[in-house]
Amino acid sequence: MTCSIFSDYKIGNLTLDNRIVMAPMTRGFADNETGEVNHLIADYYGKRARYGAGLIITEGIVINELAKGTYGIPGIFTHRQTLSWEKVTREVHQYKTKIFAQLWHVGRVSHQEILKGHAPVAPSAIGASGQVHRLRKPFQAPKPLSHAEIYQIIDDYRQAARNAMEAGFDGVEIHAAHGYLIDQFISEKSNIRQDMFGGSLQNRLRFLDLIIKEVKKVVPKNRISIRVSEKKDDDRDYVWEQPVEMVHAITEVLSKHRIKIVHPSVENYGGALKNDHRSLHELFRKYWRETLIAVGNITPNEGADIIKENQADLIAFGKLFISNPDLVVRLKANQEIFPYHTKEQLKNLS
Ligand SMILES: Cc1cc2nc3c(=O)[nH]c(=O)nc-3n(C[C@H](O)[C@H](O)[C@H](O)COP(=O)(O)O)c2cc1C
Repeated sequence: MTCSIFSDYKIGNLTLDNRIVMAPMTRGFADNETGEVNHLIADYYGKRARYGAGLIITEGIVINELAKGTYGIPGIFTHRQTLSWEKVTREVHQYKTKIFAQLWHVGRVSHQEILKGHAPVAPSAIGASGQVHRLRKPFQAPKPLSHAEIYQIIDDYRQAARNAMEAGFDGVEIHAAHGYLIDQFISEKSNIRQDMFGGSLQNRLRFLDLIIKEVKKVVPKNRISIRVSEKKDDDRDYVWEQPVEMVHAITEVLSKHRIKIVHPSVENYGGALKNDHRSLHELFRKYWRETLIAVGNITPNEGADIIKENQADLIAFGKLFISNPDLVVRLKANQEIFPYHTKEQLKNLS
């Protein structure tokens, strides 16, 4: 039987109404002081659910007070933040849509002005290249993490995941992509540690490995998605030198933990991998038999073909879900899909 993008999909005891996922997208709409979300955010996600998204993955939600990299980022480490997310999950669940919380720590992609006077933290004292979003100052040199601090962060991931389940989320996505903290451990350019968290690729993957081990204690393994990417926001020139080796090593860690969902992101950098003509989800398909989410500048027609040809199981759309809250209804009815415009593009249009 050939599947369509509108066919339902099961991951263990989790059933999605269709194969269409809203990709995680930071919006900066949370209260900057408290990290709580309000009814407008519940309404924003609720709209995408009402019009039929199968699964929503939230914007990155930070797991402790040193985890954020700009203003207006929500958290899920205090009791009040956790309660504030209940509004969102309740709204979304009215429409049978499932929702995962994306758990985030930006590591060195930050600045003390964002972190109330604290320096950003990272595996090693190597600064990221680029500027802090909205603050428009260069990323600050990070403080390398001690062993005790690393284990505290791993605990913080477990607590944040527990809070997410208490707030009514159906699962969590661990953000190990785009050059943020977990990815900073994985990359040999940002991690020059000489202990059990640095050196070999296996050691550099240990932080992710231990986080998954802890998160699995509080979230069923079929409800944990892992997001990885080849390219990085902390170093725009960096790409995986050996994508095949990297994908293979990552899938070994995930398989060891019997994780069921992987979400390889190609962000906005275009499809093909260095030294490889495939895009990232195609490379993962070679090594990964469980649920695979394809994403990144995919048009609805391409998405339908990817599902039909079984290159991936789910298709995530990001920007099109911003410009079309009713994206799924429009796709079903074959109606016009509105393009996404950045703020600058909108200014030029008016
Ligand atoms: C405004 C915006 C914010 C984003 N924030 C996040 C984020 O918080 N976490 C994440 O993993 N990816 C984030 N992304 C990447 C998207 O999840 C997605 O991978 C990317 O937009 C490519 O998909 P698209 O071409 O369908 O938009 C963001 C993208 C956009 C446009």
